[in-house]
Amino acid sequence: MSRFEQTWRLLCQTLKGLETYYAAIRAAAAQISSHGEKQTFLKIIYENFYKVYNTKAADRLGVVYTPGEIVRFMIDGADWLCEKHFGKNLIDKDVDILDPATGTGTFICELLEHFRGQPKKLAHKYQHELHANEVAILPYYVANLNIEATYAALTGQYQEFPNLCFVDTLDNVGLHTAAKGTTAELFGSVSEENVVRIKRQNSRKISVVIGNPPYNANQANENDNNKNREYPQIDARIKQTYIAQSTAQETKLCDMYARFFRWASDRLADNGVLAFVTNRSFIESRTFDGFRKTVAQEFADIYVVDLGGDVRANPKLSGTKHNVFGIQTGVAISFMIK
Ligand SMILES: C[S@@+](CC[C@H](N)C(=O)[O-])C[C@H]1O[C@@H](n2cnc3c(N)ncnc32)[C@H](O)[C@@H]1O
Repeated sequence: MSRFEQTWRLLCQTLKGLETYYAAIRAAAAQISSHGEKQTFLKIIYENFYKVYNTKAADRLGVVYTPGEIVRFMIDGADWLCEKHFGKNLIDKDVDILDPATGTGTFICELLEHFRGQPKKLAHKYQHELHANEVAILPYYVANLNIEATYAALTGQYQEFPNLCFVDTLDNVGLHTAAKGTTAELFGSVSEENVVRIKRQNSRKISVVIGNPPYNANQANENDNNKNREYPQIDARIKQTYIAQSTAQETKLCDMYARFFRWASDRLADNGVLAFVTNRSFIESRTFDGFRKTVAQEFADIYVVDLGGDVRANPKLSGTKHNVFGIQTGVAISFMIK
């Protein structure tokens, strides 16, 4: 049996096993009418269920919901910066927006809300210029429901969201077609529709990359068998740039969020905006000196909102209220203009 056939069979079995569960989620979600309650329901499903269902994957993939206040602040900020630097707004034609680690699709849903009141432009954005990727099947499914339900609530019409891809963003480095050996090629055998979507996304000029890339919340040390996998192409780009510019003795920088910064910097077109909420360690840590030099060269302007909240640096902080995510790791929002 070929590798494709094996993957195909495995996936079919897994999806079949989960279908009853997904049907229950669909039925429960359909009962809830208010936007706020729906978001709370999804948050519980996404974080709590996933942590029990697959603790290691939840940690490795950074399955954490982004608070709505942060998402809306980042959308408003990216919109303002697009207007200030390029004379265009997010709603305008030819401004393609991508969330590369979409989770439950919060950024796309809040973008749809942001475009409320402009139905023609909203319909065009939804069909052609909003893009999202997710690598785990449960969040992928939840994002699909969430985005389509939000659009239906706003417009009174159900429309399939054609731009959600089931893909590992960091593998998706062949910019115009799915490169050999990438996830896109692998999933090509599983779902033709998905590979069409990936190719379509890859053919677009992306002007805004916005989102909350993963971080490992709990991995304590190198021996933890939940280590991240390698990404040869992205890691080579990190070596050529962030590591080459660093004076630190030993710099690894294969942190997931550094990889997402590298990927997004390369994917973004000129005249673009990168908006990420991440771990704040890049601001002052020694190992990120090469990262700081590189982004200063690659971007024209950089705005960082340091939200603090690092428990190790401030042991007096305790509980979960000190941090916008209720976690131990400090957080920052970055806006970078190319
Ligand atoms: C911090 S969460 C995003 C939360 C999202 N903004 C929300 O509010 O629901 C990060 C998400 O990225 C996904 N992810 C992790 N690595 C990825 C990759 N390499 N490619 C695509 N998605 C990835 C995880 O499965 C997770 O759902």
